[in-house]
Amino acid sequence: MPGIILIGTQWGDEGKGKVTDLLANDMDMVVRYQGGDNAGHTVIDGNQEFRFHLIPSGILYSHITCVIGNGVVVNPKVLIGELDGLEARGISTDKFLVSCNAHLVMPYHLVLDGARELKLGKSEIGTTRKGIGPAYSDKTSRIGLRVQDMLDMKIFRKKLEAALNEKNEILTKIYGFKPFDADKIVADYGGYAERLEKYIADTSLVINKALDEGKNVFFEGAQGTLLDIDHGTYPFVTSSSPVSGGACVGAGVGPRRIDKVVGVVKAYVTRVGSGPFPTELDNETGDMIREKGGEYGTTTGRPRRCGWFDAVILRYANMVSGLTEIAVTKLDVLSQFEKIKICVGYEYEGKMYDNFPSHQTVIHKCIPVYEEVDGWMESLNDITNYDDLPKAAQKYLARIEKLGGVPIKMISVGPKRRQIIFRD
Ligand code: GDP
Ligand code: IMO
Ligand code: MG
Repeated sequence: MPGIILIGTQWGDEGKGKVTDLLANDMDMVVRYQGGDNAGHTVIDGNQEFRFHLIPSGILYSHITCVIGNGVVVNPKVLIGELDGLEARGISTDKFLVSCNAHLVMPYHLVLDGARELKLGKSEIGTTRKGIGPAYSDKTSRIGLRVQDMLDMKIFRKKLEAALNEKNEILTKIYGFKPFDADKIVADYGGYAERLEKYIADTSLVINKALDEGKNVFFEGAQGTLLDIDHGTYPFVTSSSPVSGGACVGAGVGPRRIDKVVGVVKAYVTRVGSGPFPTELDNETGDMIREKGGEYGTTTGRPRRCGWFDAVILRYANMVSGLTEIAVTKLDVLSQFEKIKICVGYEYEGKMYDNFPSHQTVIHKCIPVYEEVDGWMESLNDITNYDDLPKAAQKYLARIEKLGGVPIKMISVGPKRRQIIFRD
């Protein structure tokens, strides 16, 4: 069973880090294939909490090779900070690799990200301001700099100067910012290159060789289905492809290598930043979920918007990513409610929608259609067997399974490693 993809089925922060860490034990390699340090994946090992932004969530296991694939945009300063932080905590980074073809997040990307958001004013996307959109734009416009450019500072400078010709015009004339100095960037990135050189590799080749040898390779998605640049709630999305298809492109493997696609499903839904969110609870119930679930951004600290579970979204994620199974996380957070709502469809202008609407107006204005089920009002934190779950919790899960059309194989009932229920 060599190739497994894990994706977020909602708007990110579903608990991908925890599920990756749990499944990674049986893996030989964990690969990030898209996104950048806009991601924030939390893993709790004993009493230690780790927050990964770029490094794959398998790094805590010494037997695992952790790879940043070509589809990721890499801020080298952030990466070095993360590597240093891990080493300071006694975690080995010897088996870490970064693709020579991954694009670099440059200092002007960060400034442009913030400047664009300011210009958008009320229509802002609410980005993480990590330069992700501008870095992917440059990649697609073919004026990006790649990790391999850092291995030859002459090439790096040439490409940088070409990019700065345009960027400095935009920064000074459109946004009224100061221009960037090529010498300073060359000096900084030259320093990063020295630190990172030993990790730079042709990762597509490395991953394919591992698969050829029958090794288990895990592709860890960042963000979530509805933040996908093609399939998400555009323009309130990120600039990469978090859906399962993104793993093949972003790691350089063929689709026939993939045996399983695991969807991570939070037992309710959250969203950070702007954009439509049909089941959002902008009220006390939403606040109760946020407080019990600790729903504050791992990357930016912003309070996450919270809402009831949405089966339309799960069906959609299943459709665009071909899920073979799901992991339901944070079920324990719902223990505080006597009644729980499940969104089974949307209604807009008298029409019912079972499938995710393709038209943005419908997504923005639809009203969720709910089913109400009984809550369980008891702690789940120490339960490790499915049969020991309260009957009402089992019913809630059965409904999610039925509505989503995908089997639930894991249920997470707390942030710690041991707080997990596996199901055959
Ligand atoms: P990711 O971006 O999908 O990896 O998710 P985040 O790490 O950003 O957010 C998930 C948060 O929920 C983290 O703080 C996790 O420690 C925590 N978490 C994960 N699973 C559970 C769970 O089952 N119950 C509770 N209460 N917290 C969880
Ligand atoms: P993980 O991997 C939740 C959101 C931002 C914003 C939009 C665009 O932890 O699930 P960007 O900086 O990517 O241009 O911002 O996407 N966003 C996330 N929301 N979890 C994430 O990652 C996110 N990464 C980006 O809040 O709405
Ligand atoms: Mg997160």
